[in-house]
Amino acid sequence: MKPILWITCKLPEEIVEPLKSWADVREWPTVEVNMPHEKLEEIIQEADILWTIMDNRVSRELLQTAKNLKLICNLAVGYNNIDVEAAKELGIAVTNTPGVLTETTADLAFTLMLITARRIIEAADEVRNGDWTYWGVNHLAGRDVHGATLGIIGMGRIGEALAQRAKGFNMEVLYHNRRRKPQAEEAYGFSYRELDALLQESDYVVVLTPMTPETKGLIGKRELQLMKNTSILINVARGGIVQEDALYDALKNGEIWAAGTDVFVQEPVSTSHPLLTLKNFVALPHIGSATLRTRKEMMEMNIESMHDYLEGNPIRHRVV
Ligand code: DGY
Repeated sequence: MKPILWITCKLPEEIVEPLKSWADVREWPTVEVNMPHEKLEEIIQEADILWTIMDNRVSRELLQTAKNLKLICNLAVGYNNIDVEAAKELGIAVTNTPGVLTETTADLAFTLMLITARRIIEAADEVRNGDWTYWGVNHLAGRDVHGATLGIIGMGRIGEALAQRAKGFNMEVLYHNRRRKPQAEEAYGFSYRELDALLQESDYVVVLTPMTPETKGLIGKRELQLMKNTSILINVARGGIVQEDALYDALKNGEIWAAGTDVFVQEPVSTSHPLLTLKNFVALPHIGSATLRTRKEMMEMNIESMHDYLEGNPIRHRVV
């Protein structure tokens, strides 16, 4: 009997079709709406392999209801949507997609710095809405990225890729990380700072740390107040790392100059979210790794893990 592979979102036909030679493939049918949690509760009971996306909340309670589940492949490098400790205890392997999305996500982080600093969304909207009525000396004037100081919180692969881009813009790069990276410091000239010092010195603070119990709510009122009132905060990691109410206050009160984020506590974010009322806030819909090539490579990586499991080989890209 073929193992049951449940795919919780609609993936391209050319990816799914070949899987049918070895799996009994069951998939969520539409792209417009992702699988609701109630459906996940139902299908987890029959799946041998579960192919998840970060919208799926795979808690300990949910995992305990799984009867045959042996492998979860998460279509993301982050896996905070899955209780990996519980999975480990229950003998369920979990895999992710590190590496292949590094450069693409660094591109997006740098893009978000540029568009937030140069007020690109406001500017483009002005043209499109017919509001471009004059040229003014400080009209839509933003902040320079080149030559500024970039502070990266979480210096993993994506952080290093972002820092290399920053070097091309003659930026000074500071970083804060759980572990210092002397080799990268020497090779690329990055400087380590304690979190408070990084916040105080940087013109751009980019959050790239994974979401863990330690980083949840890491950037709140106190941290935002440490930042310069000319500085810009960028978050392309996970929504809950930056406290959204504190960010709203800091932007509204001019404690920081602007912010750009690709991630929210609740995704998709509600259009009535207070942050969306602010002109100095740029919002993107979690598209860090969204290029055609990278998404294909992420899917292929998940499939490699499935093949390893099937063939009884050590499972590549395994988290637990
Ligand atoms: C990741 O890989 O963790 C991204 O946030 C999902 O695109």
